[in-house]
Amino acid sequence: MKHKILVAFYSKAGENYNVGNVETGNTEIMAQNIAELVAGDLFKIEPITLYPDNYEKATIIAKEELITNKRPEIKNTITNFEDYDIIFLGYPIWWGTYPMIINTFMESYNFNGKTIIPFNTHEGSGLANTYQEIRQKLGNCKVLNGLAINGKAARNSFSKETIKNWLMNLNIN
Ligand SMILES: Cc1cc2nc3c(=O)[nH]c(=O)nc-3n(C[C@H](O)[C@H](O)[C@H](O)COP(=O)(O)O)c2cc1C
Repeated sequence: MKHKILVAFYSKAGENYNVGNVETGNTEIMAQNIAELVAGDLFKIEPITLYPDNYEKATIIAKEELITNKRPEIKNTITNFEDYDIIFLGYPIWWGTYPMIINTFMESYNFNGKTIIPFNTHEGSGLANTYQEIRQKLGNCKVLNGLAINGKAARNSFSKETIKNWLMNLNIN
């Protein structure tokens, strides 16, 4: 069977740790590479309320959202979500976990029976406990082990090779 693949991600442009002020976020670049290599559809999770460009200010808001278990609202929707059987789910690590908008996303659709493949960028935390957290949240899904890349390195063309090797080992096609 030919899989129908979605590559959904959240990524913040603007000022970020170690990369200066960027027009395209690190996770977005990783997502673009994955989508191209697996011929998947890209979906960028867009918050209704944008985070400040300024890194320090964004970290303060993100921490507040984590502490209050907030569900930031998402502006855009996927109309044919049921068509996808494999979903790559991408995010940066924020305060040791995925951004709270990923919770909003996971609560917005019926994920039953889907295969989830997480991917993320970070600046030291690796994948943190995110696969475990996603498995807990999406009980009726198969959540594979994903790929975590350093945020700055994700912008480097070598990271595409890393992604290619990882995808080959996943054996999804
Ligand atoms: C609000 C915020 C919190 C962050 N917290 C962490 C963290 O706990 N651990 C870590 O390794 N990196 C942390 N970072 C760095 C990001 O994970 C890293 O820069 C990532 O590549 C950003 O991806 P993006 O450009 O797709 O948003 C944080 C960045 C921001 C903006």
